[in-house]
Amino acid sequence: GWTSIPSEPINVVVTGAAGQIAYSLLYQLAAGSVFGPNQPINLRLLDIPVMMTVLDGVIMELEDLALPLLREITPTTDPNVAFKNVAAAFLVGSMPRKEGMERKDLLAANAEIFKVQGKALDQHARKDVKVLVVGNPANTNAWICSHHAPSIPKENFTAMTRLDQNRAQAALAARLNVSVDKVKNVIIWGNHSSTQYPDAAHATVNVQGSTKPVPSVVNDDNWLNITFVEKIQKRGAAVISARKMSSAMSAAKAAGDHMRDWWIGTKPGEWVSMGVLSDGSYGIPRDIVFSFPVAIENGQYKIVQELQINDFARSKLSNTSKELEEERTEANNVLQNK
Ligand code: NAD
Ligand code: LMR
Repeated sequence: GWTSIPSEPINVVVTGAAGQIAYSLLYQLAAGSVFGPNQPINLRLLDIPVMMTVLDGVIMELEDLALPLLREITPTTDPNVAFKNVAAAFLVGSMPRKEGMERKDLLAANAEIFKVQGKALDQHARKDVKVLVVGNPANTNAWICSHHAPSIPKENFTAMTRLDQNRAQAALAARLNVSVDKVKNVIIWGNHSSTQYPDAAHATVNVQGSTKPVPSVVNDDNWLNITFVEKIQKRGAAVISARKMSSAMSAAKAAGDHMRDWWIGTKPGEWVSMGVLSDGSYGIPRDIVFSFPVAIENGQYKIVQELQINDFARSKLSNTSKELEEERTEANNVLQNK
């Protein structure tokens, strides 16, 4: 759990600090809901030169929160300053998807950012830094970043699929007419894209004090395998179509959830989904950042093993891992042609 001993501040970097997601994320960090109510933080806020005036305004608001855990605030356009001795990095900054775009379209626009930031992490960050990539295409950006930071262990680089997990949990709770906290262990496999596999086969729901498998309570395979899966796969696009901007409040909340669980751990018997470097578990190819269910203890995650994978799930896993292999090839092309 969170330490109760008041400690020295840690350095935390947020990139894309003048953007939409950061605007909601920074409050959670300053309020202590991610690193705990006793952990002071210094914030390093990275953005690009044209956004510095906007960032000044965000900093005024951070000061005006009057929150005691928030110590130094450093705005910068220089990755070498931003990543100095950071213990945690939220890599949010990048161009978001617009209506009609698929995540692949973002690779060309964003690959270079994550190469530069990987190098800066390698040179300046703590070697135990926990890196969460939010900027899309998140999985492949995390792969690019870790590739350019050879001195930092590969397991320190993760990509965010927690928003998909939260969406899936909320959708199941709505279907079962229970509050979200009653639903546990839904899994997001693969890419944070429309090929992801939101999997309720191992999820449980607590109904009137007793824990039951979600599939038996829903009792409708067609809904679970098609309607539910497509709803979660297309939720990001649905938000973009309605808001004309990509999800930000929910994305920021998910980023806080991801980092908090990585920092303080998951409860016994429970797991969360994170994009992590594949070690070959479940027959997934190595060397892609793939979302798996993980259990976390002492700041270290372990991929949950030995879940039953049926033929339907197997074909979904293979589809999304193929997309990630294609993105890796594409990323190599983009970076070589620079
Ligand atoms: P935004 O456009 O509001 O903010 C992005 C910020 O990044 C801008 O201020 C921009 O100036 C900055 N930026 C651009 N290049 C930069 C660089 N090289 N260094 C530092 N900062 C840079 O976008 P947003 O809504 O905050 O979304 C940010 C990213 O998060 C997008 O890629 C979006 O698609 C992604 N996203 C991911 C998830 C997920 O679940 N993984 C969910 C929602 C959004
Ligand atoms: C989301 O899932 O909402 C984000 O990744 C934005 C997008 O492009 O879908």
